[in-house]
Amino acid sequence: MSNTVSESATLEYNGKKIVLPVVTGTEGEQAIDISSLRKSTGLVTLDPGFVNTASCYSKITYIDGENGVLRYRGYPIEELVEHGIFIDTAYLLVNGELPNDSQHREFSRLLNECSLIHEDMRHFFDSFPRGSHPMHILSTMINAMAAFYPDVDLKSLDEDINQSCARVISIVRTLAAFAYKRSIGEPIVYPRHDLSYCANFLNMMFDSPVRPYQIRPEAVRLLNVLFIIHADHEQNCSTSAVRTIGSAQVNLYATISAGISALSGPLHGGANQSVIEMLKMIHEDGDVNKFLKMAKEKDNPFRLMGFGHRVYKTYDPRAAIAKRECENYLKLIKYQDPLLDIAHRVEEAALTDSYFVDRHLYPNVDFYTGILYRAMGIPENMLTVMFAIARLPGWVAHWREMIGSSTKLVRPRQVYTGQECRHLEEDYRKVK
Ligand code: CMC
Repeated sequence: MSNTVSESATLEYNGKKIVLPVVTGTEGEQAIDISSLRKSTGLVTLDPGFVNTASCYSKITYIDGENGVLRYRGYPIEELVEHGIFIDTAYLLVNGELPNDSQHREFSRLLNECSLIHEDMRHFFDSFPRGSHPMHILSTMINAMAAFYPDVDLKSLDEDINQSCARVISIVRTLAAFAYKRSIGEPIVYPRHDLSYCANFLNMMFDSPVRPYQIRPEAVRLLNVLFIIHADHEQNCSTSAVRTIGSAQVNLYATISAGISALSGPLHGGANQSVIEMLKMIHEDGDVNKFLKMAKEKDNPFRLMGFGHRVYKTYDPRAAIAKRECENYLKLIKYQDPLLDIAHRVEEAALTDSYFVDRHLYPNVDFYTGILYRAMGIPENMLTVMFAIARLPGWVAHWREMIGSSTKLVRPRQVYTGQECRHLEEDYRKVK
């Protein structure tokens, strides 16, 4: 189950041959190990956006982007969705194996115990301007946790690390719900010990003293599914941020806060909000082809949001699950959303258009999930927050894997293209 050095690649430079090992992962992916390159040649490699760079070994998630395969710890995403319990997926990601009954109970107990935020942190919510984006509030609040809770470091006992990991996975949902309640001017709702992870979140979001929330099992099931499909995605932008920041041995909360900030961008997790904004625009305008045309124009910054992916060159398996859930759930709750019809029309038009076909641009996870969240009553500015709550186990798993291995400080090189050495005195003379 470990990587093996199977072959080698030879690089010829300046009349010298340098032999570099080729490592092979468990699914047969191969990588040229260049870790000795600079020492032996003085050369560095240049790879903007790390399009061709594996930044680490990892045992957590496997993606085959050509065939639309996604597995957490070896289990296909479709099977985990079928099992349907987000906290079991979280446990699996963080610990490497699914929990047995007693581990499940213990993990639930721990999440429950850690779900309250420090009372003094509540006042922080009052200091954000009304209308602040909840992603900004969330990353700030997670960062602030370092001041309230004892941090773990590389030498901490496993128990303490477990506790800190559970705390951050649990509290993120309390903070998210509190931020929402604050944004709509309603009193906050505390977590309840008798509710499951997802039911608790829905209750904190939607319960109110004048309108008690009825927890619907179909909504809880759906939230579990949505959280599972978002739970990890190997070395994406936010996870790479977590690993990068974490490699400097900063505290866990600052590390996760960096992940949340990275996720908020519209090219990453922020795309789910942008998709809904785009579908609304198309709905108002009525002309799907006009937007497709705009997305294809070279000098137009408009992109078809929820389409395309760095790794998937076929249908994103998460998008396939979200699309199926979307059709079923909306039917089940008898909710008609005109945006679903628009989404279907956009998808159909794009998948028969040579621009999108030639570039292998398919719907990604964000294309249908916003419609599902809307059907659950989640407001638009909370969509990326939902992604963040779900991604917590993934970030924590990568952070744990990183601190448990001999990771070096992440510190890329560059190819400098600025001014050559020049001198102040001469230049001052010239401008005077
Ligand atoms: N609409 C129109 N054209 C696109 C799109 C799109 N959504 N995505 C890529 N392209 C074009 C791009 O213009 C380029 O064309 P050309 O070869 O003519 O220059 C080609 O396809 C390759 O694109 P790229 O930007 O080099 O590809 P990338 O791997 O760097 O970008 C991406 C991946 C996700 C940033 C990009 O597809 C995109 O911006 N999509 C829209 C935003 C989005 O939905 N993001 C969510 C990603 S999934 C959730 C997550 O994991 O974060």
